[in-house]
Amino acid sequence: MTLHELGQHTAEQFVRVCGRQPLWIAAAPGRVNVIGEHTDYNDGFVLPMAIDRYTVIAAAPAADGDGWIQLHSTAGNGAVSLDLSGPVTPGSKGAWSNYPVGVIAGFLGRGARPGGFDAVVHSNVPLGGGLSSSAALEVATATLLEAITGQKLDPVDKALLCQKAEHDYAGMPCGIMDQFISVMGKQDHLLLVDCRSRRPELVPMSDPAMALLVVNTNVKHELTGGEYAKRRAQCEQAAKALGVASLRDADAEMLERARGRMEEVDYRRARHVIGEIERTLHAAEGVRASNWPTVGQLMYASHTSLRDDYEVSCPELDAVVGIALDIGPKGGVAGCRMTGGGFGGCAVALVRTDAVAEVSERLASEYERRTGIEPALFVSRPAAGATVLKG
Ligand code: GLA
Repeated sequence: MTLHELGQHTAEQFVRVCGRQPLWIAAAPGRVNVIGEHTDYNDGFVLPMAIDRYTVIAAAPAADGDGWIQLHSTAGNGAVSLDLSGPVTPGSKGAWSNYPVGVIAGFLGRGARPGGFDAVVHSNVPLGGGLSSSAALEVATATLLEAITGQKLDPVDKALLCQKAEHDYAGMPCGIMDQFISVMGKQDHLLLVDCRSRRPELVPMSDPAMALLVVNTNVKHELTGGEYAKRRAQCEQAAKALGVASLRDADAEMLERARGRMEEVDYRRARHVIGEIERTLHAAEGVRASNWPTVGQLMYASHTSLRDDYEVSCPELDAVVGIALDIGPKGGVAGCRMTGGGFGGCAVALVRTDAVAEVSERLASEYERRTGIEPALFVSRPAAGATVLKG
């Protein structure tokens, strides 16, 4: 479904639920991270791209009175009402509405006055698949509020406001990657983000010979659980042991020298982060030069490090990468790795465009044979970031 069709479909859902036409429609994409995993909260580099899967929100001014916001979702998760005359607080833990509510609170905190409105959310970003469905929902909400209030935020500010919503309202201490790419993605480009300076740099990826194939293991990933926060804490401990502000300031030599006075697990976490920052910079060079064998090898190395040193993979993700390796460059696969926070969700493979159909078929059947789970696969070109479709 194109974004235009998805927008139309969401408008129809709005008419069905609210009985009138929407005045505003905003959309924001999910993402796949090509490389640079668990580096964003270590002031490192990430290299994600937006995918052509979007969360769309259609809205119109409240029909009865100005003081309420009503949020509906087509995912059947129940509607939420917000009373604008009081403080906007998070709902129960795990509620889908905490993401948009956190963003609304962020706008209100900056003095924005959207007034009451009714909104319907519809998404084709797989939920809990490690493709940043939550960032897409936050950024779509922020984009909708920009349209409603007529006040556009600076893109970096907008991404940070959404990240804060996720921290404070959903209890997930995420980095900045997902919100940055959902706001700033550009068609046919990856986004190299320096998470220390917060400077984004577009890296063209328009070579028609290669495609990125997303393989959803259909094992749900759950990041609001403690493992993500634990990794962050271990990185902070490692940085402290190394005497640096963040692992961005460390290198492999420093780490080896400090090994004896570090917890073994912190040492391995730091080894992943330090190596991954380097790999990400090399991969960005590789993409610029269309050097696909190098990019592919870096992706495999990233996976190994995430599996062994960072311990955020799972047997199903390892199965996908193992199958990709078996297919190999002759079969059309240059590289493959888990993508996103880990513990399930998706892998991403760099595949020769002319081999996509055959590779997809082999990956899917072999994955199902090994795990008993049916995967979901799709190809996406680097897509555009958040946009206003109407209003
Ligand atoms: C999640 C977080 C991101 C990032 C990745 C791991 O997607 O939201 O900020 O830390 O995990 O790279």
